[in-house]
Amino acid sequence: MSPARLELPSGFIFGAGGSAYQMEGAVDADGRGVSIWDRFAAEPGRTRNGETGTVACDFYHRYPGDIGLMKELGLGAFRFSIAWPRVVPSGTGRVNRAGLDFYDRLVDALLAAGIEPYPVLYHWDLPQPLEDAGGWPARATVDAFTAYVEAVLDRLGDRVTSWTTCNEPRVAAFTGYQQGLHAPGRTSLADAMAAAHHLLLAHGRAAQVIRARSPRARVGISLDLTPVYPASDGAADRAAARRLDGLVNRWFLDPLWRGVYPADILAHWRSTPPPVVGDDLLTISRPIDFLGVNMYHRHVVRADPGGGDPVHVPQPAAKHTEMGWEVFPSGLEDLLCRLRTDYRPPSLIVTENGAAYEDVRIHDGRVQDPERRDYLEAHLGSVAAAIRAGVPVDGYFVWALLDNFEWAHGYARRFGIVFVDYPTLERVPKASYYWYRDVIARSRGAASGAG
Ligand code: FCB
Repeated sequence: MSPARLELPSGFIFGAGGSAYQMEGAVDADGRGVSIWDRFAAEPGRTRNGETGTVACDFYHRYPGDIGLMKELGLGAFRFSIAWPRVVPSGTGRVNRAGLDFYDRLVDALLAAGIEPYPVLYHWDLPQPLEDAGGWPARATVDAFTAYVEAVLDRLGDRVTSWTTCNEPRVAAFTGYQQGLHAPGRTSLADAMAAAHHLLLAHGRAAQVIRARSPRARVGISLDLTPVYPASDGAADRAAARRLDGLVNRWFLDPLWRGVYPADILAHWRSTPPPVVGDDLLTISRPIDFLGVNMYHRHVVRADPGGGDPVHVPQPAAKHTEMGWEVFPSGLEDLLCRLRTDYRPPSLIVTENGAAYEDVRIHDGRVQDPERRDYLEAHLGSVAAAIRAGVPVDGYFVWALLDNFEWAHGYARRFGIVFVDYPTLERVPKASYYWYRDVIARSRGAASGAG
């Protein structure tokens, strides 16, 4: 792809990210409490080879060196999550000053390196005592979250200017409470429906706290949004695509941007409605500053002749990543354009996009990852095309800066542009890291007239 096609506006945010449980390690440090992911990963059979985030990338101790790598990359922003169990170890009550100290140091170190911190307030590590008291299906968890967010804002609100309330409420609710493949491992649709609603409400409440305590900060939420295509032009296949789009995308987009759950999907789930109370939907739909888009692949579906759920249609001729996800870069452009047309968000930020491939460190110690570079280049090209089409996309965050703990897949799925040698925790920038560094430098050079 020619560099010209990767032309991005000046001020475009080039970022990368990671999350607390996936990269920090140090699970017993400085008074951290137990999260649902500590508990879940410790249960036999839940994760690949019983792997856990106990050590992960040891980012908790090694962040200064990692910020050095970010600086060398020319990164504009770093997205990380704050671990609720470090800040409020029991989920409610006492705030742990030492836990907040870590994020204080991290934010200061990022700012000193000229990198904008993009903290996420919830990336799936609910304090275990709250799960024991009912978890996200219990409405009281929203109040506990609000108090935790207040504590974080009181400490970091003077320096952080972009907040993401919640990462992928759909995955937290449905993969964790309905499919049982993520923590806490429950398998109840009713629990998942309640969890999803409470996560959205938690977003709305957190946004209010941020507005009150840090009025100039930008607030957003990250959704996992997957474009859905019908396998044919036939009416039945198109209806199947619409249904799946409703289940995975509109179920979250409509309450956030329109203040209603989509009627077709409410009818589909009529026996387990979301537990809406009072003006919940007003709280959920208060205006926010950006919509974070996490996109990795697409779905192609056809109708089930028996009237059942939409049927996924495999694309054997297409390329797939090691997650088994189809590589479909133009899906990102389609998705961004559709979000602009249907929801008109003031700003879109691609808060996650990236690919897992089996990286091999070759004899000279380097890691060549041409597939990942191609994946990132094509998706960034798709972002550039959406911007040319008039969509307000203000940034792009590679998932991930570092290889890390990929949830139930353990350490077997490497998304990083920096390789982590787990036995030694050594960091090795991959070829994709150098590619990204050059993209960023070229874009800055062009913006300043030097390129
Ligand atoms: C997203 C998660 C992130 C990572 C990527 C691969 O669903 O937000 O933590 O696992 O997928």
